[in-house]
Amino acid sequence: MPHAAASVNRGFSMPGPHATGAAIKLRGVSPGGITLTKEADMAVERTLSIIKPDATRRNLTGKINAKFEEAGLRIIAQKRIQMTPAQAGTFYAVHKERPFYGELCEFMARAPVVVQVLEGENAIAKNREVMGATNPADAAPGTVRAEFAESVGENSVHGSDAPETAAIEISYFFSGLELVG
Ligand code: CMP
Repeated sequence: MPHAAASVNRGFSMPGPHATGAAIKLRGVSPGGITLTKEADMAVERTLSIIKPDATRRNLTGKINAKFEEAGLRIIAQKRIQMTPAQAGTFYAVHKERPFYGELCEFMARAPVVVQVLEGENAIAKNREVMGATNPADAAPGTVRAEFAESVGENSVHGSDAPETAAIEISYFFSGLELVG
């Protein structure tokens, strides 16, 4: 896979300028007589994050990024873009049949978003913890959505929900060369 894999094993990655996202599993392999085990088990993941229009409008990008970094997530790629409703619709195609789909696409295209790739151990779950529940009314205190989200529809951030979706979502916005881990 050329780029954007969500799970990156960095323990014994191939030499190169940056991780390309390829998962390299060497458990039990002993190159040069050295047994590689424990470090190879450390799962460094990547996840796609979006700071949504309600948050960029209120100039909250820095405050939200601070929460990611305080949780140990590294922002290894980031850009500010404005999507068309069609581009937002493709991104959220999984929700196509939901009653809020049209509203969601319109909202995501209404103003700029900041798309980013976060990297860290268990980054997908960690990011979801930092974001809090989808509906800010249910979000735990201290989470991004509890502090900043305006409603379930305008909830400040998006984060991938699984390694497979993270890989697809990252590749929707970023090329491998843009991921600088
Ligand atoms: P997100 O994590 O980006 O994934 C899908 C989005 O759909 C979700 O955040 C919400 O912003 C939005 N969403 C989910 N449920 C509703 C709803 N009942 N009404 C409007 N938007 C919703």
